[in-house]
Amino acid sequence: MYVCLCHAITDTQIRQAVSQGDTSLKEVRQRLGVGDQCGKCSRMAMQIIQQQLDLE
Ligand code: FES
Repeated sequence: MYVCLCHAITDTQIRQAVSQGDTSLKEVRQRLGVGDQCGKCSRMAMQIIQQQLDLE
């Protein structure tokens, strides 16, 4: 599912970024660019990051 429409970033990509060591929205933003335009995806991205951190 697309989370960030501005950059066409999916929840799978965000989960992979966490699996590769990212632990915060800031780090995922630096890696993928999620949330750096309109910012509407930031809340959902944070939820997905937290879910993935809880799984790992
Ligand atoms: Fe992610 Fe706009 S939807 S920055």
